[in-house]
Amino acid sequence: MKRLNSQGKDGKAPLEERFADEARFFKAWVENPKVTGAVSPSGRFLARMMARYVDPASSGPIIELGPGTGPVTVALLKRGVAPERLVLVEFDPYFCKLLARRFPRCKIVQGDAYNLAKTLDGMLEEPAAAVVSSLPLLTRPDADRTELLRQSFGMMQPQGSFIQFTYGMVSPIPRRTQANGAMPFEAEPSPPVWLNLPPARVWVYRPTGSPALIQKEAAFIVRFKEGAEKMRGEFRDTRDRVEEGFRETRDKVGVGIKERTQRARRQFELQRLRMSNDPALRPAIALLRKIGEHKKQPRD
Ligand SMILES: C[S@@+](CC[C@H](N)C(=O)[O-])C[C@H]1O[C@@H](n2cnc3c(N)ncnc32)[C@H](O)[C@@H]1O
Repeated sequence: MKRLNSQGKDGKAPLEERFADEARFFKAWVENPKVTGAVSPSGRFLARMMARYVDPASSGPIIELGPGTGPVTVALLKRGVAPERLVLVEFDPYFCKLLARRFPRCKIVQGDAYNLAKTLDGMLEEPAAAVVSSLPLLTRPDADRTELLRQSFGMMQPQGSFIQFTYGMVSPIPRRTQANGAMPFEAEPSPPVWLNLPPARVWVYRPTGSPALIQKEAAFIVRFKEGAEKMRGEFRDTRDRVEEGFRETRDKVGVGIKERTQRARRQFELQRLRMSNDPALRPAIALLRKIGEHKKQPRD
């Protein structure tokens, strides 16, 4: 009998396969922590929570982003999604080979999920029913996340959903515009999955308005960030120039004061020598000395 993608009856993969996946995942994380985003594959409770938001009775492709070694793929298949409907978009070529071996009836696409429209250009025969993402969103700027959602909505049916897990406490995709308006989608969090390590949560996003507003917002965030970065750069330049000027002035003034003090000291010494050697001044000097000694004598 054909195994359901290496899963046993209890829903667990054989032990040696799990160890191999853990090891490969850890290696990928060491090589590129920002892309892999976790030190080990998601646990089955989290994978199941992701799959729960996909309706197997829907029609059209289901796009999975960042399948890694495939725990969410397995949960989707176990939920009853036909393997032919699954389009797995994975960046890591090793994971792609492994996925192709494990899920021969799914479509595996090696490419960048953050450029989804281009990566899947011409590959979908109809709009997708859902996009299920395990991408490490928190390692990317807000604008990339917002743009990912826009592109995903752009290839989904109007009632489609974008499903994402996160280890964070809040929605990994900004829900308010920079001007504090509502983004044109609804966002629903799942209960926390305490049995995952670390505990995680699933967020489901559904469009409620025009994707054009999301595009506008993503572009606005990019411009806003660029503007802020430019201002920060200008501020740093100005601060560096002022500090440099201050250092130069301080050095110049410091050197000037030292030189002037030394010069005055030398002149004073010369003058003192000249006066003490001048015969015309001798009586006056002798008188001054006497006055000095007289002042030093103790008084009754
Ligand atoms: C946190 S892991 C999740 C893996 C798996 N779904 C799980 O739950 O264990 C993130 C996965 O996303 C993949 N990934 C990261 N950036 C990507 C990108 N731009 N395009 C496609 N896949 C990406 C990584 O290679 C990794 O397999």
